[in-house]
Formats: sequence, C-alpha cells, structure tokens
Amino acid sequence: MRGKPPILLVHGGAGAWRAHRDRIEEVCKVLKDALITGYELFKSASAIEAAVEAVRVLEDSGLLNAGVGSVVDVRGEVTMDAGVMEGCSGRAGAVAATSYPKNPVVLAKLIMEKTNHILIAGRYADELARLWGLQKHPGPTQYVIKRYSELISKLRRGEIPNERFRKNYAVARQLLGLGHDTVGAVALDESGCLAAAVSTGGIMMKLPGRVGDSAIPGAGFYADRHASATATGVGETIIMTFLTLRAVTYVRQGLRADEAGRRAINEHTKLFGKGTAGLIIVDRNGFFDGVYNTEGMPWGYLAGDSKEAVVLGLPNPP
Ligand code: GLY
Repeated sequence: MRGKPPILLVHGGAGAWRAHRDRIEEVCKVLKDALITGYELFKSASAIEAAVEAVRVLEDSGLLNAGVGSVVDVRGEVTMDAGVMEGCSGRAGAVAATSYPKNPVVLAKLIMEKTNHILIAGRYADELARLWGLQKHPGPTQYVIKRYSELISKLRRGEIPNERFRKNYAVARQLLGLGHDTVGAVALDESGCLAAAVSTGGIMMKLPGRVGDSAIPGAGFYADRHASATATGVGETIIMTFLTLRAVTYVRQGLRADEAGRRAINEHTKLFGKGTAGLIIVDRNGFFDGVYNTEGMPWGYLAGDSKEAVVLGLPNPP
C-alpha cells in the first residue's frame, strides 16, 4: 500500500485472534482511537511524538498486551519492555523488565531524550519513572489475573511441560497461541522523518527477568532515514533474526516497505516456523504494510490521503 505523508500505522499484536473474536470490535475501536489521537500530533510535532502517543493510547486501553493490559510472569507480576527510535536523528531509548510505569513507552522516550544511554532495566528504570513523575501501573487487569490462574492450574497439573516451558521458544509460541502480544506504531511525518515505538508485557508466564525483543533496537523496533518497523511475536525468535533491522535493511537496499516486510517475515518463518512473528513497516516514499505469520495481527493506518482510519488483519467478528 502507498499513502501520502504524514502516515501513521499501529498494531495490536500478532497472535491467536480467532479465540478472541468477541473482543474484535473493541480492539478495532481502540486501534482507530490510537490512530486518530496520534495523527493529531502531526499538526504540531514530529513522527516520534505521533508514534509514542498512539502507543500510549494502546497501553492505556487495558485491552492489549502492553501498559495497563500487560500479561504477567510466572510469579503473577507485571514486568514490561518498550522502545522508541527516531530515524532522522538516529536516537533510540528503551526500557526492560520495568514494573512501575503505566506507560513504559513514555519512559523509553524520556530515556532517549534525557540520558546518554539507550536501554535501562529493572528497578533502575522504575526509579527513573518515579523521579520523572510518571503515572504508576495499576497492577494486572481482572482478565489477566483470570488467565494467569487458569495457566497456573494447568502448569500444576502438568499440562504445560515445565522444563520445555522454561527453555524452549516453542513453548513461548504455544503460549502466544493462547493469546496475543505487544503493541506498536510507526510514523512518517511531512518532513520525511520516520519513527518507531513499541511496548509489551512480554510473554505470559515468562520467567522473572526475561527481556524480549521490544527493548532491543533492531529486534523489536528500528528506524533510519529509509524506513521504520516494529515487530510483534515470540521475542526469543525476533531477537535471533533481528527482524526489524532486517526489514529496514532490505528497504535501504532498494525494496519497497511492503516487499521488504514480506521478505523479512518469510525468512523468519523459514527459521522459526509459523505462529512466531509479525511487523508493521513504512518507508520514506510512503509505501507501508502489515505482515505476519500468525492467525491474526490487527493493524491499521491513517495517511494524508486516507478518508478515515482503516483497520485490517482480524478474523470476522462472530
Ligand atoms: N514480542 C514481545 C516479547 O516477546 O516480549
């Protein structure tokens, strides 16, 4: 697809969306809200502000696996990763395994803007969130607590093989098959600057301290002067293929964003199989796409020549 800048894309996570058909209308609405709210910022601000604002709306929805709606680790606790990157300046910021902020994407942006570092982890990230006056995370939603209780019971009954669960990304894929993962946005503003923003609660029942792709530039997010991409799926696989850097590199080498995204996902599928990843991508010429090897990946766009926010990538509601 191709649009006239400014262009904003969002996604609500790759995963097993057929099992969540009852939530599809709500998900479509929140993606459209994120697009419209983020797009407003193009009037006064650049691509990075639009992308971060769109992700902030998705984090606040409580409906998706990021921010308020984040899944929990094996102890039942929320720990989140997020990252942002601006293509025209080459600046990036990220947080890993943070539990304090309601909006880890905002913390990632502040780390980019206020520190000389790219990635801050754990309680040190939490301390910065407190210091900078960010809102506190309210704790897991009722929906997540219920899902956690069901999974803990299965684990106790031996229905989730404990050893493999701890060691093998294939089990993370199995868990992704039960739900869905991560939110993200990419943006191209009128000056030609590209940006990426991503946020996640990670994989349900992960080990404490586990960090996924969303905190790692080149894996879960990447932007340069040619293109910008954010990924979703099993972080352990996305880190190994450096999925977003791979896709953006193909644009740098001459492919359009839609071709580059498809090539990167096809290579990822060859290495790790289906049900592992998706991404959204936009290039400086206004080409864009959302591609995935999972059952679904709700994603949407709003461009200078769009009449309204468009959402794709979901099975039909029941
Ligand atoms: N894609 C998010 C994660 O694996 O943590």
